[in-house]
Amino acid sequence: MTPRSRAITSRQTGPHEDLSRRVTRALAHPLRKPIAVHTREAFDQARLWRAEQGERPLVLDAGCGVGLSTRRLAVRFPEAVVIGIDRSADRLSRDHGPLPDNALLVRADLVDFWRLALAEGWRPARHFLLYPNPYPKPAHLKMRWQGHPVLPTILALGGCLELRSNWRLYVEEFALAVAQATGVAATVEAFEPGAAFLTPFERKYHESGQPLWRLVVELPYRPALVPGT
Ligand SMILES: C[S@@+](CC[C@H](N)C(=O)[O-])C[C@H]1O[C@@H](n2cnc3c(N)ncnc32)[C@H](O)[C@@H]1O
Repeated sequence: MTPRSRAITSRQTGPHEDLSRRVTRALAHPLRKPIAVHTREAFDQARLWRAEQGERPLVLDAGCGVGLSTRRLAVRFPEAVVIGIDRSADRLSRDHGPLPDNALLVRADLVDFWRLALAEGWRPARHFLLYPNPYPKPAHLKMRWQGHPVLPTILALGGCLELRSNWRLYVEEFALAVAQATGVAATVEAFEPGAAFLTPFERKYHESGQPLWRLVVELPYRPALVPGT
C-alpha cells in the first residue's frame, strides 16, 4: 500500500511577488557556480553512452528519483534514448526492475548537468520535470526551478518541456517564468493520471486524493537565453 500524503500548504496565496525579479536577474547575471567534478564525470559517461546509441532523439527525465519514470518513458518512446538524472544515490539504487537498453540513470546535480548538456549542444526532444521538490516556504523561492538562476539554461535546451506537480502554484509560477523569459505562453491544466502512473510520487499524491497539475510547452532551442554566452 502506498502511504498517504498531505497536500502542500504554503503561506503563499498567489505567485511569489519576487518571481519576476528573480527571472529578470537569472536572465541578466551568469550563474558562476563551478561545475562539480562528480557531475562532470557523470556527464562524460552519459555523453559517451549517448554517442554509442547513434542519432536518436533525446528525452531527459530531470529529478527522476528511483528512475521508474525513466524506465516507463524508455518504453513509451522506443525510438529515443532516455536519460534519468538525480542527485540521490540512495533513490537511484533502489530496484525497480531492469533498465531498458535505451535508458540510462545518472547520479548528478541537475544545476551542473543542464549547463554541461547545453554547452555540449544537446537538444532534448522531450524534457520532463516530474514532481520537483516544491519548497513551499516563500523564503525558498530561489530553490524552486522557476526562481533558480539555472532557469534560463533549462529553457534554452528547448524541446517539449513537461512539468508536473501536486502544487498548482508551482506550475503557475513556472508558466509565468516561461512566458517572461521566452515569450511562449504555457497553459496550466489539471491532470488525471488514471492507472498509468509515471512516478511513485504521482501515484502517492493521486491515491491520497490530491489533484495533480501540469504544463506542457514546446520551446525553441535558444542558447542565447543564458547570460554570458
Ligand atoms: C519529489 S522527488 C520526485 C522524484 C520523481 N520525479 C517522482 O516523481 O517520483 C524530487 C527529486 O528531485 C531530486 N533533485 C532535487 N534537486 C536536484 C538536483 N539539484 N539535482 C539532481 N536531482 C535533484 C531529488 O533527489 C528527488 O529525487
